[in-house]
Amino acid sequence: MAESFAVSGTTKKEKYESILPQIKALVEGEKDTIANLSNIMSALKFGMDFFWVGIYFVKENNGNKELVLGPFQGPVACTRIAFGKGVCGKSWEQKETIIVEDVEKFPGHIACSSLSKSEIVLPGFNKNGDVMLVLDVDSEVLATFDDTDKIYLEQLMEIITGCVNL
Ligand code: SME
Repeated sequence: MAESFAVSGTTKKEKYESILPQIKALVEGEKDTIANLSNIMSALKFGMDFFWVGIYFVKENNGNKELVLGPFQGPVACTRIAFGKGVCGKSWEQKETIIVEDVEKFPGHIACSSLSKSEIVLPGFNKNGDVMLVLDVDSEVLATFDDTDKIYLEQLMEIITGCVNL
């Protein structure tokens, strides 16, 4: 399956529509969380040519919940993020997708790489409606993400939350 992964189209919309069914097929029948998310992050990074893509899991640490780095593609990143901190922690707190056109203008933004200029973060929910992970996508270019990304990455999030066992 992975060997035949190919992206068609030139617009962002066409590329998402090309990769999403392939990503769905890639994880179909596989239950392993790390294997599925690792493949999805690779497909997303190389399919869409993003700078950094990754998952942060909501995990317990000494009675507190925080975000902990999971499968990702791109330069090394911050390992832990507190509730409400940075774009990731805010998306978790607000339980909604956040689009940041210019990270330098987002109060409290956590700069894992100085090359990252804009980003989108989406929460992923468990069956109880609690945030169990977030998906962070970063770009080296200002204002990369818009409603088209939100629509298709929210569809991707449905695939992600459907193929993890947490
Ligand atoms: N910029 C994110 C932190 C994660 S890294 O960019 C990979 C934030 O502000 O939450």
